[in-house]
Amino acid sequence: MKTLADLIDDGVAGRTVLVRSDLNVPLDGSTITDDGRIRASVPTISELSGAGAQVVVMAHLGRPKGAPDPAFSLAPVAARLGELLGAPVRLVEHGAGLPSMAAGDVVLLENIRFDPRETSKNDDDRAAFARELAALAGAEGAFVSDGFGVVHRKQASVYDLARELPAHAGGLVLAEVEVLRTLTEKPERPYAVVLGGSKVSDKLAVIEALLPKVDALLVGGGMCFTFLSAQGYGVGDSLLESDQIGTCRRLLESGKIVLPTDVVVADDFSAEATTRTVAADAIPDGWKGLDIGPESVAAFGEVLSGAATVFWNGPMGVFELAPFAEGTRGVAQAIVDSPAFSVVGGGDSAAAVRALGLPEDGFSHISTGGGASLEYLEGKTLPGIAVLEQ
Ligand code: 3PG
Repeated sequence: MKTLADLIDDGVAGRTVLVRSDLNVPLDGSTITDDGRIRASVPTISELSGAGAQVVVMAHLGRPKGAPDPAFSLAPVAARLGELLGAPVRLVEHGAGLPSMAAGDVVLLENIRFDPRETSKNDDDRAAFARELAALAGAEGAFVSDGFGVVHRKQASVYDLARELPAHAGGLVLAEVEVLRTLTEKPERPYAVVLGGSKVSDKLAVIEALLPKVDALLVGGGMCFTFLSAQGYGVGDSLLESDQIGTCRRLLESGKIVLPTDVVVADDFSAEATTRTVAADAIPDGWKGLDIGPESVAAFGEVLSGAATVFWNGPMGVFELAPFAEGTRGVAQAIVDSPAFSVVGGGDSAAAVRALGLPEDGFSHISTGGGASLEYLEGKTLPGIAVLEQ
């Protein structure tokens, strides 16, 4: 796999380099609520710009319907990226061509998913779009793949473009893959994985793949209720995927899955709800579990304190609402306090670390890719990585 360092060695001064970053950040209106992914993308962009390249960044925001939609504009991201780089970043509309650029300039193409060919399932459509993108860079152009959070997507700016231009792995992609390879190939033991989030069906494949490799798999979040139901407990009005109960029962036979023993239940999904902490086998009818309880946090913390390697993906409860944040905060703090090599697997868990004010340097690595890191740990081929290895 060719790397950013190889490209810099080849010389980039005066060349146009297309960089695929993952700048898919959470927004409240036009306010960025967590800029972690933008900050993580800065080193590669700065390095290219500092070496005299004209840098054209491509990224998506959300899932627009293949047409321009102001609600999904990257304008706030361009502004923040400019602040972080210390130089303005112009936002370039689709089809407008590139503005005139000096060596070291950085521009950001408007949401790449405004073109329906970006995410098309039709190989020819995607390839045609990739050729148009490659043409922006001209004969001396190059491509740097640095959007780790999107390498599991076979999309034009992630996969097809790497076949149109000399393609290089960016620093972020290399760092992320290195960490995940350590987890997959030689994790120090004991190896504990914490999984949360709402849908158990999204996590079954990764649980199947991880169980033979880990010593303990701690389950919280909305997904724990299908496991509790598989143990024969009533779960009241909590999230339940009844069609997955059989699979959860089979997975529990591994003896490695640790479930909460108490949960915080509420009479409503709101910050003003009436709440109670109850035993996991005594969730009252009409109440929904929205967080793991303090006894569970202590038990999970006990496992984590003795672990040598920890991977965490998914919040333990609805941490965005204050009454249901303590489970996630407590487990995250236990990971910070543990001497283990610890990896936070992107998405909501990375946002939770920052939203709850936990020290980012308390973790060995905070991944920028939620879905991508889970698919890597599942053992799936990630198209955006595989294409760089060809
Ligand atoms: C993410 O948020 O996980 C990445 O940016 C990928 O986004 P997607 O799931 O819409 O492809």
